[in-house]
Amino acid sequence: MKLTSTIAAGAALAAGVSAGQNNYLGFNSGATLPDESAKFEKDFLAEFTTAQKLPGAPGTFNAVRLYTNIQAYSTNTPIEAFSAAIKTKTKILLGVWASGTTNINNELAALSAAVKQYGSDFTDLIIGISIGSEDLYRDSATGRTNKAGVGNGPDEILSFINAYKKEFANTALSSVPVGHVDTWDAWVNGTNKEVLDAVDWIGVDEYPFYETGKGNKIDNAGKLFNSAYQTTLGVANGKPVWVTETGWPLTGPSWDEAVPSVENAKSYWDQVGCEILFNKVPTFWYNLRDSNPANTVKFGVNQKLDGTPSFNLTCPAVSKSTSSSITMPTATGKGSTPSTLVTAPSQTGQSGANNAGSAKGADSSSDSSASKTSSSPASTSSHSAGSINKVSGAAFAGVALVAGIFATLF
Ligand SMILES: *[C@@H]1O[C@H](CO)[C@@H](O)[C@H](O)[C@H]1NC(C)=O
Ligand SMILES: *[C@@H]1O[C@H](CO)[C@@H](O)[C@H](O)[C@H]1NC(C)=O
Repeated sequence: MKLTSTIAAGAALAAGVSAGQNNYLGFNSGATLPDESAKFEKDFLAEFTTAQKLPGAPGTFNAVRLYTNIQAYSTNTPIEAFSAAIKTKTKILLGVWASGTTNINNELAALSAAVKQYGSDFTDLIIGISIGSEDLYRDSATGRTNKAGVGNGPDEILSFINAYKKEFANTALSSVPVGHVDTWDAWVNGTNKEVLDAVDWIGVDEYPFYETGKGNKIDNAGKLFNSAYQTTLGVANGKPVWVTETGWPLTGPSWDEAVPSVENAKSYWDQVGCEILFNKVPTFWYNLRDSNPANTVKFGVNQKLDGTPSFNLTCPAVSKSTSSSITMPTATGKGSTPSTLVTAPSQTGQSGANNAGSAKGADSSSDSSASKTSSSPASTSSHSAGSINKVSGAAFAGVALVAGIFATLF
């Protein structure tokens, strides 16, 4: 047990270290509040200061993953998370919203404006940039079957990556590592290889909670996560894998065998965060403050931002409950086939698509809605509140999809 544990930790460590990166600790942060109004600087400040002072945390959560550079409901005004990050010295994983569009000009304009406005106070905080979030999943056969919402294909994502690189080639951002965030199956899919080849690092969103039909009770969560994570490493071609979203809900209805509760959220934190990720892999937890009004399960570990988390964040001195997760054979992507990808998430389609519309991708959806509103006035009319939910569903369905795939590993 000790040996296998060492191996797993070693693999995780290697993933983080291979690019000379720090094992950042952070939370995801969307552009809007639970009531879908825009977050302003004070809202981001409240999140960032709370995150850095979480009592008992296994490190300082002084990084944030954003989904867009654009202030919600503006065309291309820089998001106010930037000034809040500068004031709190919060490291920034930038996000470019890349779905439902043929260009990312407004995203790049917002980022350029911020670089000009804030200079090195801003650029020194930037640890990476993701061009897109789950776009390839939403644009896949499975995503379409699940009515996951508007995505984008690998050619488009590649062209956006190149557009970003060209735009910032001779700026302070030229050395920032460029990545893309997607679901596990998107990274395995050979059609998307051009994206994998183009990025410096791979971002993956993984939620055992949504692994319908596969014994997704909390006791198996560490095992399910680790198998999926190892599989992702197996297809990464040696590129660093950052865990860009993971977490377990504290409240709300059960999902198959998965039960949201404070106790289970704490168990997941211990099994996955403490045992596998924290200080070993760049990790962006979902979530400090849950801003998705549509999802009935809630993930925020300190929803009130009052500095008193819902559970004890201190990692157990010796973890024993999750040793099973580490003794799992380390799967590689080779074991699973596209056919499993297609069949796995059938249930997600149901709960996914619509529920989904309302579900978890929440934060990203809000962002997407913001970007959409701004990036393409022509499409604004068709992007009503309903479509906001639809887009959020996309991310959610992606989550559920991944869950289904994970399950096929067993
Ligand atoms: C693989 O990726 C391509 C391009 O994104 C997509 O069209 C296709 O549906 C994907 N296949 C599966 C099984 O998801
Ligand atoms: C939190 O958990 C740690 C580790 O199990 C323990 O040492 C500490 O006393 C706990 N703190 C509180 C306030 O319960």
